[in-house]
Amino acid sequence: MSKAPKIVAAYSGTFDPVTLGHNDIIHRAARMFPRLIVAVGLSSAKNPRFSLEERVAMIREVTSDLGNVEVIGFSGLVVDFARDHEVNVLVRGVRTVVDVDYEKQMAVMNRDLYPQLDTVMLTPSPEYAHLSSSLVRELAGLGAPVAKLVPQAVIAPLLARFGRPSA
Ligand code: COA
Repeated sequence: MSKAPKIVAAYSGTFDPVTLGHNDIIHRAARMFPRLIVAVGLSSAKNPRFSLEERVAMIREVTSDLGNVEVIGFSGLVVDFARDHEVNVLVRGVRTVVDVDYEKQMAVMNRDLYPQLDTVMLTPSPEYAHLSSSLVRELAGLGAPVAKLVPQAVIAPLLARFGRPSA
């Protein structure tokens, strides 16, 4: 019988900033895979409000309780990141049916580019189904409460970025 391949999973995203929805997926994936890399895309086309270093630092803080998770920034193609870090499973979160077509397209494209890479789609808890980083930024900018949207460690840097006082 041939030996099962070593599984290394990566959860990719821009995480500008990481939300409770992302955190939910990270924790689910960390339970499923022996090793999980949170791959933080530079995503310069999205003009992120937080630098790559800031986004990586926030996720490191949020995942400090997870011994099998590491957080690494990247630019360029996700398949190149996968090749460089021996990743064979790409984790993506699908929140609603709206995400599915786009994710399927990306999964097929990524597998065409790098056949060793398969995509696994996980769904977050329903309370996070309508959460996105841009919604979080918009609400923070308008002074709405964010404690139910982002992990505790993200609240202060998020409010500070939008010139809002910490509660
Ligand atoms: N909880 C909360 N929000 C979630 C979520 C969850 N579980 N899952 C997704 N989202 C949100 C994200 O926050 C993001 O919101 P925003 O647009 O308001 O910032 C939105 O859904 C889209 O997420 P996603 O599709 O993961 O985009 P992204 O910008 O976070 O990450 C990369 C995209 C970096 C992973 C992707 O662009 C990439 O792989 N880039 C590399 C280039 C490449 O290889 N391209 C070819 C791909 S075929």
